Amino acid sequence: MATTLAGTLPGPGILPVRPVSAAQPITAINGDTASARPTGLDELDRVLGGGLVPGAVVLLAGEPGVGKSTLLLEAGALASEAGPVLYITAEESAAQVRLRADRVGAVGPNLYLAAETEMSALLAHVEAVRPQLLIIDSVQTISADGVDAAPGGVTQIRAVTSALMALAKSQSLTTVLVGHVTKDGSIAGPRALEHMVDVVLYFDGDRHAQLRMVRAQKNRFGPTDEVGCFELGEYGLIGLPDPSGLFISQRGEAVPGTCVTVTLEGRRPLLAEVQTLVAPSSLEIPRRVTSGLESARVGMVSAVLARRADINLAKHDVYVATVGGVRLSEPSVDLAIALALASSAANLSIPPSVVAIGEVGLAGEVRRVGGIARRVAEAERMGFRLALVPAGAGGIPEASPNPSPDVQMRGTWPAAPIEIREVADVKSAIAAALGG
Ligand SMILES: Nc1ncnc2c1ncn2[C@@H]1O[C@H](COP(=O)(O)OP(=O)(O)OP(=O)(O)O)[C@@H](O)[C@H]1O
Ligand SMILES: [Mg+2]
Repeated sequence: MATTLAGTLPGPGILPVRPVSAAQPITAINGDTASARPTGLDELDRVLGGGLVPGAVVLLAGEPGVGKSTLLLEAGALASEAGPVLYITAEESAAQVRLRADRVGAVGPNLYLAAETEMSALLAHVEAVRPQLLIIDSVQTISADGVDAAPGGVTQIRAVTSALMALAKSQSLTTVLVGHVTKDGSIAGPRALEHMVDVVLYFDGDRHAQLRMVRAQKNRFGPTDEVGCFELGEYGLIGLPDPSGLFISQRGEAVPGTCVTVTLEGRRPLLAEVQTLVAPSSLEIPRRVTSGLESARVGMVSAVLARRADINLAKHDVYVATVGGVRLSEPSVDLAIALALASSAANLSIPPSVVAIGEVGLAGEVRRVGGIARRVAEAERMGFRLALVPAGAGGIPEASPNPSPDVQMRGTWPAAPIEIREVADVKSAIAAALGG
């Protein structure tokens, strides 16, 4: 007798169960129901790849006080125009959230608030409100019945998250979870959730500056190389569709010791300025102070300058900083550091219309970096006239579609195309930037 597949006994411990739904040909499945819906907060939608996908679970992780609650309250209020939104506040009282909502202008009749820390009570609220979007602030402060573990511990938050995942998938309920991380990103919580959820967003920014950035660490429905830029102020977060210009000082005349570069945040080019001050030191071990840049990078560039360009800073205090609190960790910033230090040491200024892009190698060579065309196009759009780029990286940059409002106002656009000059090593870059 031939055995049928259904008649075959499953392996030990595996019992045949009826499937939740029958398998269908892929052509019979309607993909439109899973397409992203914009939240209305453009900079957030940009990172999400257009908006929130129905049924997706998004983790928004960030350090304390960075503005997670503010961002989600604003997004929730905007999304509530399309359908009910339920905001579960497990850290603050509903009245405190209302105060913030008034301050940032995030109120609407379809935005429901509940101060709750229990999973079962949370589910009852979902049942009553039937929201399209569920916001949980934060996942660490929700506890699940029947899970015998410390609140906020990995076991507890995993249990809470998997219950919320199941809810999101079964009811096609878009869910956003807030997760706290510490400065070194070390807390087990959000890290342990990264593989469970569909989208992981990191929200960060300098505590002393108003700029906030949202980046996608993982996105099952969109790219991960987009960043959303916001400014955090008294009235909440304001999207910055054109953030280039924030990280360069707006002075009229050139000052020795500064150099502008173009960094890539995801696929977004941003102009950034490196400022340096080199002064004779009276200390036995001269000071080395960096802010916004890695001190190891600055040390390496200084050593290259000493050995390959005869610029010795061993008896000088060296201060190196970025403008506007931006952190530059890309190797492409090396050339700007080298030129700014050389400019400060020689007390000669680099013309303010110059940008420098490139990694500096230990042999003093200027090495290629990615996205040169995009970087140069951004510098051109912002009105820069000369780009120093690594040898072999030149070529025609992409045309700039529209000038920034700043440049339009100054009436400098359409300007002559930016001049691209290839530099093979630091020494020739210094000559090109300082004119001799
Ligand atoms: N009245 C106010 N005026 C201006 N800025 C304010 C005001 N109240 C709060 N802020 C700013 O909003 C930020 C806090 O935002 P928010 O509470 O959204 O952060 P969070 O990431 O949710 O913090 P937490 O980790 O504590 O939950 C603060 O850092 C503060 O700078
Ligand atoms: Mg908060």
